[in-house]
Amino acid sequence: MANWSHILPMNAATSTPPRKFRGMFILILASLAAFPFYLIGNGFPSSFRRTANLPFHAQHSLARCSSLKISAGPPANFHDRTESDRFVHGTKATLLHNARIWTGENNGTEILHGDIFFDKGVVRGVGVVNLSALRPDVDLMIARGEINVIDVHGAWVTPGLVDPHSHLGDASSPALEGASNDDNSLKGTIQPWLRSLDGLNTHDESYPLSIAGGVTTALVLPGSANAIGGQAFTIKLRTTTERSPTSMLLEPPHDINVTHNTTDHIPWRQIKHACGENPSRVYGDTRMDTIWAFRQAYDKARQIKERQDAYCSAVLTGQWAGLGDFPEDLQWEALVDVLRGRVRVQTHCYEAVDLDDLIRLSNEFKFPIAAVHHAHEAYLVPDLLKRAYGHPPAVAIFATTARYKREAYRGSEFAARILSENGLSVVVKSDHPVLNSRYLLYEAQQVHYYGLPANLALAAVTTLPAHVLGLEHRVGYLKEGWDADLIIWDSHPLALGATPAQVFIDGIPQLVAAHVVSKPKSFQDIPKVPNFDREAEEAVTFEGLPPLLPERTSADVVIFINVNSITLSRRGDIVETYSAAGDDVVVVVRNGEISCYGAEATCSFDDLAQGERVRVVDLQGGAISPGLLSYGSPLGLQEIEAEQSTGDGRVFDPLTGQVPKLLGDDISIVRAVDALQFSSRDALLAYRSGVTMAIVAPLHYGFFGGLGTSFSTGAAHKLVDGAVIQEVTALHVSVGHFASRPSISTQIAALRTLLLASADDSVNGPYVSKTFRDVARGLIPVVVEAHSADVVATLILLKKDVEEKTGATIRMTIAGATEAHLLVKEIAEANIGVILRPSRPFPGTWEQRRVLPGPPLSQETAIALFLEHNVTVGIGIEQAWSARNMRFDVGWAALEAGGRISKLQALALASTNLEKLLGGNVESASGTSDLVATQGGDLFSFGSEVIGIISPRRGSVDLF
Ligand SMILES: *[C@@H]1O[C@H](CO)[C@@H](O)[C@H](O)[C@H]1NC(C)=O
Ligand SMILES: *[C@@H]1O[C@H](CO)[C@@H](O)[C@H](O)[C@H]1NC(C)=O
Ligand SMILES: *[C@@H]1O[C@H](CO)[C@@H](O)[C@H](O)[C@H]1NC(C)=O
Ligand SMILES: *[C@@H]1O[C@H](CO)[C@@H](O)[C@H](O)[C@H]1NC(C)=O
Repeated sequence: MANWSHILPMNAATSTPPRKFRGMFILILASLAAFPFYLIGNGFPSSFRRTANLPFHAQHSLARCSSLKISAGPPANFHDRTESDRFVHGTKATLLHNARIWTGENNGTEILHGDIFFDKGVVRGVGVVNLSALRPDVDLMIARGEINVIDVHGAWVTPGLVDPHSHLGDASSPALEGASNDDNSLKGTIQPWLRSLDGLNTHDESYPLSIAGGVTTALVLPGSANAIGGQAFTIKLRTTTERSPTSMLLEPPHDINVTHNTTDHIPWRQIKHACGENPSRVYGDTRMDTIWAFRQAYDKARQIKERQDAYCSAVLTGQWAGLGDFPEDLQWEALVDVLRGRVRVQTHCYEAVDLDDLIRLSNEFKFPIAAVHHAHEAYLVPDLLKRAYGHPPAVAIFATTARYKREAYRGSEFAARILSENGLSVVVKSDHPVLNSRYLLYEAQQVHYYGLPANLALAAVTTLPAHVLGLEHRVGYLKEGWDADLIIWDSHPLALGATPAQVFIDGIPQLVAAHVVSKPKSFQDIPKVPNFDREAEEAVTFEGLPPLLPERTSADVVIFINVNSITLSRRGDIVETYSAAGDDVVVVVRNGEISCYGAEATCSFDDLAQGERVRVVDLQGGAISPGLLSYGSPLGLQEIEAEQSTGDGRVFDPLTGQVPKLLGDDISIVRAVDALQFSSRDALLAYRSGVTMAIVAPLHYGFFGGLGTSFSTGAAHKLVDGAVIQEVTALHVSVGHFASRPSISTQIAALRTLLLASADDSVNGPYVSKTFRDVARGLIPVVVEAHSADVVATLILLKKDVEEKTGATIRMTIAGATEAHLLVKEIAEANIGVILRPSRPFPGTWEQRRVLPGPPLSQETAIALFLEHNVTVGIGIEQAWSARNMRFDVGWAALEAGGRISKLQALALASTNLEKLLGGNVESASGTSDLVATQGGDLFSFGSEVIGIISPRRGSVDLF
């Protein structure tokens, strides 16, 4: 610290109170703090002016000290504004007529029917709008076209969605080595001085996509590789005229832009903390090390804060002698601000052990936590969260993303409802690009499906995250005085596939010529969802691991009544056998096979043998449908993705590494069937969601995959009858860019060599492989994982080339296929099948960047396009936890196509088509495929629950 004593007046120097009296001055300071305006307003309190010989920094120090007391949040008169600080000149005022408005008020229950007027970036009227009071010249303005007038014909309108956990722009899409991970600094575990703003890429392809999903505001957090990863910033997603990251900020904190400073309020700041595996893994730490690192950092900040307070207590009582500079440290100022209660602490924290550590930390250093993020065990310890300093944190969760690491293993789809029943605030988040934030609303739809009341589910993507960010005074609500961020929806926002017809940010329309799909009328209402009370209770009773193995019913005959539709697969085709035109029918199942269906009179029950046990199950207008098939994730080969020891591991890649001699020259003998693991939680949850079968290839990082296999997701172990459905399905390879892979041209050369050498019977040598011979002869399909249209084009030529030389036809499937829509005609001509994985595309890598986005950005979807060209198309998934959501993926695909694909075609995407594409014996298996019984609706809707699986193959019925 500099020595200022030579310029300080003698009287000041001699009047410095001895240390033991400093405490008294803190008390004085506390009483002065009630009148901060008095201090700042005139620069000097009059009592101080009398003291002559103040140091030249006195005025600055006084201002500095009084500013420490300014609290975070909006000024009281914030809503008096008629123009937003983000208003873009030239933006027209807009009047929406005939809207059904979810305002966010009254705990998310207020719904108004009427108009919305917004001008200069601010909502000026909602419901009954007295326009002429707002704009006396309104008629003239409308006549001159100076006001946009839009009749929304009763459409739902909500506030823009607020994503409280995103890495948009920092973990950019497409990921490029130059800057794919600007969100995790690996220079130390405690780095409160870093700012996510400094890495915010304005060219991330996700901005327009996420806006198209209704996200208008997002908190961009540093990653979780550090205990304290740095400061986070809230952005609005729209482009700005300045085109800079800084201009995207919403209420930037005072160290970035002082626009929002007032004498009594400053904007909230945000900081990212993380406990548990992530910071520990990166630094080779234990949880004990991480928490010590936190305590050390906060202790340092506490000391600085105390020095500042002592300094200011001296300043404010005119004791200037020996004061020197205001004590501060740029590296620690953000943490000092946390201790001053002016920073929202956003903490990535999963397990009970981590939450407990965090809550102790918050009480030791006396700072509140805005939200715990991910927090997969929070629902098991609600009382712990209530003990946090200040107030309980909100809980920011995924809906069904779970079990990808130990910390997420006990995650439950019922967490949201359980937490809210315990009085905690629940919000959903994307962690973009972990989940594509374009589908943030889907998270809200799912937590609603699993029991969170509709008002809270909508609040979980709007008002409540706005509160988590401290921005509830301007976003998250649709109210007079709030920002003009709002969405016009094509259906009720909690209905599956709800898509914006228009998105306004700061009053500026974001979608140009939006493609709006017409939805069934029932989609305008809140979906009626099943009752999961029992399941939610079990989640807690069993600490997140309720038993999932299905129980086979002991009944000999199961009679399903009130069945609304029956769909079966016949010789590889999906056929609707019955669809209720009025009367619901009964389905009689004996030993796992449908023995009769039709009106009650048709199926006589007279033939029930003596002593046969009968069980009657009411489907309440539900359906019997073919079981779905899952492909594309490690399902069946791994229990916890991040835990090697829970899975098979990766195969050798002959292109990049040595293959042990013992395996011989032909490593295509590696079979997934040999590593199958049964009754993983993801598999059983998939089973209970109607995904009765899965196909998996050996896990691989490189070019070579191995032989796939198909199995029953509901089987207890491999030796159960029907557990393995088909030992070998197809050969799998991948062609693309990944770390440590050789060039694409090398991968193609390898494929060509293997196919040609093996096809030629006269050739014997190191490149001959029995499996590739079978592929070249069309005996088994080859599934090539590839996304780039250029790679797909090369594969088309390669196939033709080999076929010309061999005279045989290769059965080829392209999986991944994000850019394949660019070659739809050529793919159709080449008779190649396509598995779109994921089913809704995302430009995660350069090879996937040319997506066909679907509504509202394009009318066309890749699925509909391929079907129209008679290409066999299936849909896949990427992560095992998402297998359970296949049924909604299918329903969504059908909805997006706007009636251009039928329900049966949609079903085939995730069953028969997929099976054919992956080498399944669909035809010979005809009649033996599992069937799914849903109660309350068909398999694809939020209205239904899967309540049983009928298995002709196993001769049984499982009832859940
Ligand atoms: C804004 O407020 C902060 C925090 O009180 C303070 O540090 C900063 O100096 C203020 N800036 C201006 C220009 O008043
Ligand atoms: C908010 O809504 C939830 C669910 O509908 C309800 O349980 C809760 O009591 C409501 N809270 C208030 C303050 O009305
Ligand atoms: C601060 O923010 C205001 C309002 O958003 C903006 O007009 C101004 O240009 C910003 N200043 C700087 C230095 O970025
Ligand atoms: C697809 O098949 C149908 C029926 O066989 C046929 O009418 C149609 O022309 C085909 N479409 C294309 C693009 O080949």
